[in-house]
Amino acid sequence: MSPLNFPSYPIPQGVRQWVEKIYHLCQPQRIHWCDGSQAEFDFLSAQLVQSGTFIPLNPDKRPNSYLARSHPSDVARVEDRTFICCEHPEDGGSTNNWFHPVEMQKILDQLFHGCMQGRTLYVIPFAMGPLGSPYTRYGVEFSDSPYVVVNMKYMTRMGQEVYAYLTDATDFVPCIHSVGVPLAEGEKDTPWPCNDTKYIVHFPEKKQIWSYGSGYGGNALLGKKCFALRIASTLGRKEGWLAEHMLILGVTSPEGKKYHFAGAFPSACGKTNFSMLVPPSDFAGWKITTLGDDIAWLYIDAQGRLSAINPEAGYFGVAPGTNQSTNPNCMLSLRENVIFTNVALTTEGDVWWEGMSPTPPKECIDWQGNPWTPDCGRKAAHPNARFTVAAGNNPSLDEQWEQAVPIDGIIFGGRRSTTIPLVTQTLSWNEGVYWALTMGSETTAAAMGTPGIVRRDPFAMLPFLGYNIKDYLQHWLAIGQILASKQTQPLIFGVNWFRRDEKGQFLWPGFSENMRAIKWMIDRIDHQVEGQLTPLGVSPKYSEIQWGAQALLSANVFENLMAINKAEWDQELDLHKTFLKQISSSPLPTISGIFTQLEERLGALG
Ligand code: GTP
Ligand code: SPV
Ligand code: MN
Repeated sequence: MSPLNFPSYPIPQGVRQWVEKIYHLCQPQRIHWCDGSQAEFDFLSAQLVQSGTFIPLNPDKRPNSYLARSHPSDVARVEDRTFICCEHPEDGGSTNNWFHPVEMQKILDQLFHGCMQGRTLYVIPFAMGPLGSPYTRYGVEFSDSPYVVVNMKYMTRMGQEVYAYLTDATDFVPCIHSVGVPLAEGEKDTPWPCNDTKYIVHFPEKKQIWSYGSGYGGNALLGKKCFALRIASTLGRKEGWLAEHMLILGVTSPEGKKYHFAGAFPSACGKTNFSMLVPPSDFAGWKITTLGDDIAWLYIDAQGRLSAINPEAGYFGVAPGTNQSTNPNCMLSLRENVIFTNVALTTEGDVWWEGMSPTPPKECIDWQGNPWTPDCGRKAAHPNARFTVAAGNNPSLDEQWEQAVPIDGIIFGGRRSTTIPLVTQTLSWNEGVYWALTMGSETTAAAMGTPGIVRRDPFAMLPFLGYNIKDYLQHWLAIGQILASKQTQPLIFGVNWFRRDEKGQFLWPGFSENMRAIKWMIDRIDHQVEGQLTPLGVSPKYSEIQWGAQALLSANVFENLMAINKAEWDQELDLHKTFLKQISSSPLPTISGIFTQLEERLGALG
């Protein structure tokens, strides 16, 4: 039998051609056509246990769940190995690693030549968005990693039913992935094969993704950042929509009125947490529901409103810091049917990570498989340890999560220990765009770099934008204009949950208390509070925040949390200036105009 054993159900011609191409290039030993069934998931999981990639967790503690330990060198996205290969370098822009598409294809053809020898090629059809929705885009990932297959089952709508939506006109994104470790005849595999040479490559013009050398997260689950952000952002530019690194949440008031927010926060800055928020007890009758925790596609809908849909079907979330009090809905989501990667293993066969419980276990096995005790000086879980679960696990999942919902407010939030107040309504759509552009986040132990250094992360999209940031700004401004002409612009807010006092303590308790900021934003949307004008926009008066019976914060602390400090802002504006120059040698007039106005308003602070 030819290894090109086509399945009994119809495979679109375009997919057949790709499989033949990849088969000849990568020379896998066999081909597995993924049907997306539970039986297939169980079979592959058992195989991953056999090969040592998966450790089954104690079924009494964590039913149908597994722990994977990655190679210690393959623990996160590799931004410096991520490339945008469009014909003209200026289409990549100042924030991307551009590489010539023809030259890059030559490199890839060499790397991928024979790279799957001794392995199975998995053909993984998937949809980003609900099957058949007008917003949905389709992809086929060709991967030699069974770990990728089982993760894609939770993260996307994956399976043979996808083929019915692929016309031979080939309207799907081919996503070619290899861990880059061919096996010689009889050679034993390692639990986490990967290659020191890594390439995460995007061809926006031919709508292709090629990823080599890594098995981890966004490097390997190609529907996520590679497709739903980098490639999708270029489609959105052409077609008049936006692909954003945003959560989507619903808020229902006690009267049953429903609001929707989309929120961009840089990686590991609280999107998952925020999207599953449980309101504090004094918010009786208020409900937060999750539509998405990481990616939103935004369109102008038939009514002329900005609407958002989550293209994903699961969560690939940060484990450390998650616990019963910071994110109870997340903990409930992790009760069963979970794939954990790089967390610690307890003596009972369950998982643990820093911050999961107030007291650590007396002993456990760390993420690298070594014995661990609380005093050993190492972390038990990797700071970027993650869980993979289907959205259906989430008790706060919104009933409408598979639809596009109208957005009432857009939130941009970085991680800043100084300078940026808790919550500000920007003065206009364009001022909101400026806020998002200059958004910064301090590097943490988890992110690379020196702690405390502000890295600008425009729109939380710095590592995820598939084209020139200047064109992207223009696109945001243009969409704002269309919405303005229909009088449907959502309000844009800037938030910062991470401001600290002189002693380094958080000024804001965060997590469920973030509901108080949401409530004020809703009151602004409904014209219920007047706020006060500051140089940055409109901010809440102390009396406009619902503080609860015990008055969570004193007026004094609130003042510190909201302070706009002249010295800090002098420095901040200098940093903006440098950053705007880095973005483009000739900034858009709208953006420079806002900079000048901001400088004037802040100058008046005295
Ligand atoms: P990606 O999946 O990387 O895009 O990240 P994310 O934005 O979804 O981040 P996530 O929700 O997983 O946040 C991770 C970190 O943010 C954890 O360390 C949390 O403890 C912390 N965090 C989340 N919300 C808050 C908050 O309101 N206040 C504080 N102080 N920390 C928070
Ligand atoms: C992020 O880094 O923003 C993530 C994780 O959501 S990954 O999918 O690995 O990019
Ligand atoms: Mn993310």
